[in-house]
Amino acid sequence: MAITNIMKRFQNKVCFVTGAGSGIGKATALSFGREGGKVVVTDINEAAAQAVVAELLASGAEAIALKVDISKRTDVESAVKTTVETFGRLDCAVNSAGIAGTVSLPTHEYPEENWLQMMNINLTGTWYCVKAELTQMLAQGGGNIVNIASAAGLVGQPTNVPYAASKHGVVGITKTAAIEYATQNIRVNAICPTAIETPMLMEGRRKLAHNPEALEQAKNLQRMKRMGQPQEVADVALWLCSDESSFITGHAMAVDGGAFA
Ligand SMILES: NC(=O)c1ccc[n+]([C@@H]2O[C@H](COP(=O)([O-])OP(=O)(O)OC[C@H]3O[C@@H](n4cnc5c(N)ncnc54)[C@H](O)[C@@H]3O)[C@@H](O)[C@H]2O)c1
Repeated sequence: MAITNIMKRFQNKVCFVTGAGSGIGKATALSFGREGGKVVVTDINEAAAQAVVAELLASGAEAIALKVDISKRTDVESAVKTTVETFGRLDCAVNSAGIAGTVSLPTHEYPEENWLQMMNINLTGTWYCVKAELTQMLAQGGGNIVNIASAAGLVGQPTNVPYAASKHGVVGITKTAAIEYATQNIRVNAICPTAIETPMLMEGRRKLAHNPEALEQAKNLQRMKRMGQPQEVADVALWLCSDESSFITGHAMAVDGGAFA
């Protein structure tokens, strides 16, 4: 569908996205730009963030790239500070940065080092983001936060215990903050996708691009018998950041092709 002025829901809104160099975060950043947002593209991969900003600028959007490792509190705090210095405020934040790890082992064999790394990024990193975003949104009188959790934030994920634990934790952060700030014009929601066709899934731990059998299995878990696309998650993130979802907060929304039906 052509994007018309009517659909520019984020005109002059300042939209901050983590993990915006790839996959769901990238689709979200580009969507904010198409809809008039001033986009802050953050990623630990600076070159990837800059490439997304180049795309945004070429399309006529305003955007800046920032190198941010969400597991470093000072990185996150200074990114929010730069956002406000550059664009004056922070209206929408989509926290998409995360990792699925490289290890597939049952819980009793899962290595501590890999557990800690995933917790530091997916759980503590997301908390740093939410904390800094809330602080700014409280100061300016409102805002919208969307955390990209996972289906593994709602059910277990065999052979990846820290992923399920960290994503359940992200849902916990989301619900707690939603309650705490519900009367302060700040909404906090989470999205819980199943299998989305991004580098994480296709080239990461499960390497689905190179394993036709596992790819079929992943598709079959969805009732629609296909992978979801990053844009299909980005569209939900933008809706949750928009006024169209004004009575929704604390929700952990499955985007799952019917898997949980
Ligand atoms: N792809 C899926 O099937 C799926 C399903 C459910 C949930 N998710 C979640 O969606 C989010 C986005 O995943 P994706 O599939 O787009 O993956 P992706 O690998 O394509 O993108 C993730 C981005 O996060 C960045 N990143 C990684 N660690 C970071 C850190 N410490 N600080 C800042 N940036 C960091 C990466 O550089 C990358 O650009 C993740 O939180 C993931 O857990 C993905």
